[in-house]
Formats: sequence, structure tokens, C-alpha cells
Amino acid sequence: LGPALDSHVALIGFMGAGKSTVGAEVARRLGRPFVDLDRTIEEGEGSAVKELFEDGDFRLLEQTYASRALATRPPAVVALGGGAIESPTVRRDLQRFARTVWLQAHVDVAWARVEGSDRPLARDQAEFRELYEKRRPLYAQSADAAAEDGDGVVLAAAAVHFEAGALQSLGDLVPGSGPLALVADARVAGIHGADAQLALGDRLQSIHELPPGEQAKTIAVCRRLWSELELPRDGTVVALGGGSTTDAGGFVAATFLRGVPWVALPTTLVGQVDAAIGGKTGLDLEQGKNLVGAFHWPVLTLLDPALLRTLPEDELAAGLAEVVKTGLLAGEPLWELPLPERVRRCAAFKTALCLRDPLDHGPRNVLNLGHTFAHALEAASGYTLPHGRAVALGLAAALRLSGMPTDVVDELLRPEPARVDRDDAWAALKRDKKGEGVFVLLEGSGRPVMTTLPDDDARRALDTLIAG
Ligand SMILES: NC(=O)c1ccc[n+]([C@@H]2O[C@H](COP(=O)([O-])OP(=O)(O)OC[C@H]3O[C@@H](n4cnc5c(N)ncnc54)[C@H](O)[C@@H]3O)[C@@H](O)[C@H]2O)c1
Repeated sequence: LGPALDSHVALIGFMGAGKSTVGAEVARRLGRPFVDLDRTIEEGEGSAVKELFEDGDFRLLEQTYASRALATRPPAVVALGGGAIESPTVRRDLQRFARTVWLQAHVDVAWARVEGSDRPLARDQAEFRELYEKRRPLYAQSADAAAEDGDGVVLAAAAVHFEAGALQSLGDLVPGSGPLALVADARVAGIHGADAQLALGDRLQSIHELPPGEQAKTIAVCRRLWSELELPRDGTVVALGGGSTTDAGGFVAATFLRGVPWVALPTTLVGQVDAAIGGKTGLDLEQGKNLVGAFHWPVLTLLDPALLRTLPEDELAAGLAEVVKTGLLAGEPLWELPLPERVRRCAAFKTALCLRDPLDHGPRNVLNLGHTFAHALEAASGYTLPHGRAVALGLAAALRLSGMPTDVVDELLRPEPARVDRDDAWAALKRDKKGEGVFVLLEGSGRPVMTTLPDDDARRALDTLIAG
């Protein structure tokens, strides 16, 4: 299915980097077991690491336990001891069974954390630094990606690379060695296309422009792409544009030759915090939006917040609605962060949920906060009501129904009642809910719940969002 979905997330890194703490946090967020290898060894051997180390057979034990943990299912989060990667067997098993993330911390920070502990290799600062320098190349060589905190590990686990200016290094970041087809929103191609082409270098085989925005998500556009593409099976589609382009480009990649790898390079705030994360690709039909699609996880999602500088105000506002939604779900005012960090945190929040629920069978439903009402209003407007405006209204309704204040939504998103027919909106909402009547509400900040609502309450809430 994609990076890390079927393999362990292994954390490597020097002592004091925080592998046990961050590993436990990531395991919780991904809904996976956590294996803290040093603790597993201590439990298995009935002896403390310090003693096993002094007895002299610790490295062999570590290798045995690491190989066993990495060969075991289901996929877990595994934190390895700082020296485990000195074993070639462990390095080989990491490559076979895990997506390996190097948790980094500055050597001074690491020393401050372990100084005075009873760790056998943390008794002398000079030796500690020397060991750090010696192991650094091994960590770099063994890791698929590096991170500095839990959000970073979550992103790295799903092959989401966050870096301002990363477009320039796109060519080095795209996995594999086969040819590349650049599929780009025509408007975005005019702004960032030349940089993307330059960065892709000699591997770039062909360039395909898609109509800007939602018009890309049609069978006709896909049919044209299917016939234009000359990629072999080891070729990769690189989709450059907003959520419409990553949805359509990803769908073409999912279906061409029964599936070729693809890279998502979202250029909108909606794309970077939402649409390009989670493996859903799709097209619209006359009957409705996103009715055809496939789960096809990108081999790389590149989040370059520098690309957002050229985004028009109304598109930024649409993204802000998803940021507010994410902050409410996470229980943190993520909207207050500077834009790049806002992108990183929101993207990590969605990534964790999607790794937990890759095929959208449950936990991921909470991402629909405010969206049930939004979809109904958009459908009733014949899709003339911008999605961001509809989500602002939907979030206000969800907060009111949750008995929570709506200040954040009012101040940041300024929802304006929609000019749509009330009966059409109600019919669309009933269609969307397929009679189940289940909504996402909040029991408090950061505590989403799925709950049923009596029709009268749902209709009343919907009516308050409609003008006139
Ligand atoms: N797959 C998913 O999980 C998922 C989730 C949410 C939304 N979506 C889909 O995403 C789509 C909406 O995507 P969107 O909001 O990112 O917008 P979009 O892709 O429709 O683009 C909106 C407009 O912004 C322009 N644009 C994009 N990047 C730009 C840039 N950097 N500078 C200047 N102009 C730029 C485009 O040309 C277009 O005119 C919808 O079709 C929705 O269904 C998918």
C-alpha cells in the first residue's frame, strides 16, 4: 500500500535522542504496539542493560532481540538502542522489514539528557562525543529519513518530506531510477514548472499540463494522460499542483499500467495539510465529487511551504479552514503557528490518522468534522460555493452542536450564510449520510466523537447556515 503501512517504523539514533519517549508517542498516534528494545531485552533476560553490558554479551543479545522484533508482525514502532546499527545483521533487517527514521538531537542536548545516568557509554563527555561522531555515518546510511520530534517521525514514516525550498532538490528526493512524467496544473506550471523541470533533471521524460483546479478531475483528462504517458512500470508520475492535481495525477498513477509509483508535490495550503496526505486519489462524476478513485499512497509527498507564496488569498483562506479543523481535532491552536510550522503540524496530524487507518475504515472519519454540513451546502449550490467557505460554516455548526464557542471560526474564517435552497441542502445532507445520521462532534477541544443526531437537530443546525 505504501511506505510504512505494512512495515515497522524503526527509530534509530544516539543515546539521549529521545527514542523511548518519541517512540511511545508515535506508537500511540499510529495505534501500533511499541517495542522499546532495551526494555524488551531487560525483561527477556531478567537483567538490566547496564549489567548485560558489563557481562560482555550485550551486542549479540541486542542483535538477536532486534532481528526477532523486526521479523514479527503486526507492524509496530520499534526503538532500537543507540549502538544496534553497528551490527550488519540489524542493518540488513531494518532494510527488509522497516521504514527507518533517524531521530536526531544535537550532541550537547543528548549529553545533557544522559549525563549522570548509569548508562555505561555516558560516563565521559569526550568519549561520548567521539562515539557520536563514529556512529553518525552509520545512522545516516541506515535511515530512510531523519526527524527531530514526534511529528517529524510520523511524517518520515509515511515518506512525507517537509522542507522550505525542497522543490530545488526534488530530483534527489524522488525514489528509484526510472523515468519521470511531470503532471502539472497549467497555472502552477507557469509559476513553478520551470524550477520543477530543472530539479528533475535527466530523469524527466515528459511533461503534461492539466486544466487548473477542479477541471482536472475528469475521466476525459485522465484518458488523455493515459494515452500520452510513455512511462515503463518503474517510471514515476510527479503531480505538481493543488489537491485537484494530486487527486487526478495520483489516480492516473494508480491506474496506468495497473499502478505506477507517484510523487505528490502539493502547491496549495489545502494540498499540503490535507489533500496530498493519506493516499486517496479521485475524480468527479456528473453525479457528484470524488465518486471514482483509488487508494494509492505516494512514494514521496514533498511539502515545500515556499510554494505557497504565490497562492491567491482565497486559496489560502480555503486552507485555513482545514487548519482550523485540524487544530480543533488536535486540541491545539495550530492556526496560531507561523505558516511553515502550521503546515508541518497539520500534515503530521493527518498523516498519523491515515497511517492508523489507511483504508478509511474508522478513526480517519473524524477528519469529516464540519464537512458533512459543508458537503451538503456545496452540493446545494451546484458546487459554486467555495469549499473553504462551506467548511467554515460546517465547523461553526459542529461547534454549536458540540456546545462549544465558535470564536475561532468566527474570527479566522468569518463564515457567511450560504445562498442555497434549504430543501436541496437537506436532501444533499441526507444523501451524504445515507440515512445513518452520524456526525463528527467534539466532546471538548481535541476530543472528537462520532455521534448520531436526530433529524430535527441536524436540520435546524443546517438551516442556521443558510441565508434568508
Ligand atoms: N484526496 C484527498 O484526501 C483530498 C482531501 C481534501 C481535498 N481534496 C480535493 O482537493 C481539491 C481541492 O484542492 P485545492 O484546494 O488544493 O485547490 P485546486 O487544486 O483546485 O487549486 C485551486 C487553484 O489554485 C491554483 N494554484 C495552486 N497552487 C498554486 C500556487 N502555488 N500559486 C498560485 N496558484 C496556485 C490552481 O491553479 C487553481 O486555480 C478538491 O477536488 C478536493 O476534492 C482531496
